[in-house]
Amino acid sequence: MARLLSALGVLLVLHVASSAKLVCHMTNWAQYRPSSAKFTPDNIDPFLCTHVIYALATINSFNQIHPIEWNDEQQYSRLNNLRNVNPALKTLLSVGGTVNGISPFIAMVARPEGRAAFIRSAISFLRTHNFDGLNLAWEYPGHNGSPREDKEKFTLLVTELSKAFEDDARDNRKTQLLLSANVAAFRPNIDRAYEVNKIAPHLDFINVMTYDFHGSWEAVTGHNSPLYRSSVDSGSHIHHNINSSVSYWLALGAPAEKLLLGFPTYGRTYRLSSAVTVLGAPANGPADAGPYTRTAGFWAYYEICDFTSSATLGWISEQEVPYASYGSSWVGYDD
Ligand SMILES: *[C@@H]1O[C@H](CO)[C@@H](O)[C@H](O)[C@H]1NC(C)=O
Repeated sequence: MARLLSALGVLLVLHVASSAKLVCHMTNWAQYRPSSAKFTPDNIDPFLCTHVIYALATINSFNQIHPIEWNDEQQYSRLNNLRNVNPALKTLLSVGGTVNGISPFIAMVARPEGRAAFIRSAISFLRTHNFDGLNLAWEYPGHNGSPREDKEKFTLLVTELSKAFEDDARDNRKTQLLLSANVAAFRPNIDRAYEVNKIAPHLDFINVMTYDFHGSWEAVTGHNSPLYRSSVDSGSHIHHNINSSVSYWLALGAPAEKLLLGFPTYGRTYRLSSAVTVLGAPANGPADAGPYTRTAGFWAYYEICDFTSSATLGWISEQEVPYASYGSSWVGYDD
């Protein structure tokens, strides 16, 4: 597992399921990290993952899918050429993020013509650049400026996309494009964002974002991606764990074989404010930024490896996850 984690860039996330899918995410901003942390498709082992998702593309003011980085198209071809080495590898393009702080999905889904323009552009773009599918990365319908009715609009988008992918495959005698989505992990967000039983049939797989459960925005230490609840949790925090999220998706009718558990290749850090170092210890903001990710609040797994060589390691047995502390720095991570 250590090799698997260190072989990939950060903020990478792996999504795993019993159906033998290992879906890895790469980002087009990891290319700007310094020295050995610079990460491009050339750094990907073509046999490591069954699927690679390239993040991120956006949606322009004509409701068309659109690249973001100056060299995206060159990187698409480096990524998709990995299938010359491993023909079984599948690649998907992720679309999402924000434009001027707002999700570009909101304007696109609002009217049938907007959705149709997006769907047409997506099929043409994916075929031109040789992707195997599309991943929807909207955080989230019904949130962050997206009106309540976007829950139903998202269902329409997913339904219309999968129908168009079927038609495209039949009309052009090609393998059907895959459709997946990154989805919320917290119960109230799920309730507000998705008609689970209506979207699940149209998605090939569902990437549950089971990470960022705790972080330096809270006043005591907590783990980024705990498997189960801890005795420190109370109130709504009892649901801030992987088991609770996945159980909820199952209860709402998502088929187990389509649900992929999100596994972060990064940890979330805290600055301890006392000599206590256990889970639930008082904290005041994040530890120092890592030398490569240069953002306070999280460290890449390869930054955590450097830290753990001198830190004191701990194990949260209730949650089945490791943590480490040194001086006033604390990190909860996955190994
Ligand atoms: C996992 O979550 C389910 C649903 O909330 C719960 O019934 C079960 O007790 C949890 N398992 C553990 C080990 O916490």
